[in-house]
Amino acid sequence: MTADGKARLAILISGRGSNLQAFIDACADAALAADISVVISNNPDAAGLQLADGAGIPTRCIDHRDFPSREAFDAALAAEVARWQVDLVILAGFMRILTPAFIQPFSGRLLNVHPSLLPRYPGLHTHQRALDAGDREAGVTVHFVTLELDGGPPIIQARVPVLPTDSAESLAARVIVQEHLIYPLAAQWFVTKRLQMTEHGVFLDGEPIPATGVDYSQETC
Ligand code: GRF
Repeated sequence: MTADGKARLAILISGRGSNLQAFIDACADAALAADISVVISNNPDAAGLQLADGAGIPTRCIDHRDFPSREAFDAALAAEVARWQVDLVILAGFMRILTPAFIQPFSGRLLNVHPSLLPRYPGLHTHQRALDAGDREAGVTVHFVTLELDGGPPIIQARVPVLPTDSAESLAARVIVQEHLIYPLAAQWFVTKRLQMTEHGVFLDGEPIPATGVDYSQETC
């Protein structure tokens, strides 16, 4: 916690940083009662690092290419995040598969956003896969991170229609608008202690969250 009682966040990125920007905005307008303590990238060229700089947020780059193995990179990443004593770790377009060396120390306070309606389409190219399958709707899931890739328990999902004219790019553009809404909301639930992952499951306000997460369209707060 910060001196004024706000939760401390670490945000991990690899690229553009539009979800990072949504967090910066949510913290600024008090939709999210948190401070971003640090932004860490594995990619020195990530545009999101400039967004963080512009907002006065400390940045670090830990380049995965400097490490002999995934585990060695993850151990260095975990040590850096631990230094900042954060309450919650946000993966925001962080494009590295994480091993237990990183996931275990932050289990229960590690969130990810995935651009599909999990459990459909874990992994990459989600929008093209939704188009190829002829899906009529697509969307995004915020979930707790566990050892299974994109397999941790969903917290919230938002849905969008798939239009007959859609390309992967146009669908991604429709989905990301929803990402920017539901990801800071899930973080706000966490930092206000409404959201928890325990050995018994995932709970919002003490009630079990459905297997595919809270449906954002039904959400009123
Ligand atoms: C988002 O679509 C996110 O769901 C996925 O990677 C993308 C990151 O975009 N994991 P940005 O860097 O936040 O703009």
